[in-house]
Amino acid sequence: MNKDIIKHFNKLLTNELTSVRQYLLHFSVLKHNGIHKFADKVQKELTEELEHANELATRILLLNGIPNFQDTNQISEYHGKFTKNTVKEMLETNLKLEVKGMQDIKEAIFVAESEKDFVSVILLEKLLKNEEEHFHWINAQINLIEIMGIENYIKTQC
Ligand SMILES: [Fe+2]
Ligand SMILES: [Fe+2]
Repeated sequence: MNKDIIKHFNKLLTNELTSVRQYLLHFSVLKHNGIHKFADKVQKELTEELEHANELATRILLLNGIPNFQDTNQISEYHGKFTKNTVKEMLETNLKLEVKGMQDIKEAIFVAESEKDFVSVILLEKLLKNEEEHFHWINAQINLIEIMGIENYIKTQC
């Protein structure tokens, strides 16, 4: 059994489950406050993270490991007051999750390659590509906010 790669897969599983919790919180807060377009995009990403978690758990089981669904990392807090800065704060905290996710996937690729587990490498590269797309989208939104201002940006997202 490849113990090292299983440990890395479980770390990635924890990252994905953390993203799911944070994105679900954001989705419900955004919907509740009428920011529907942005909420729908967050929901789509959340579905993708859930699918990543499923693919990681499936791979862990195939490698005779036990998927860890118990642990989670801390997520950003919502303090109950939705202001014009909330949207930008959400984007910034989500960007952090994506950056950590990509770093940890890259480490796992390195381990999978050293164990000559090329099927895991293929899966991890697919996940990395997907997280890179998430990262790019979030970054683009932060950039748009810089260009047009938060109020104009929110107008495009309702
Ligand atoms: Fe993911
Ligand atoms: Fe992601």
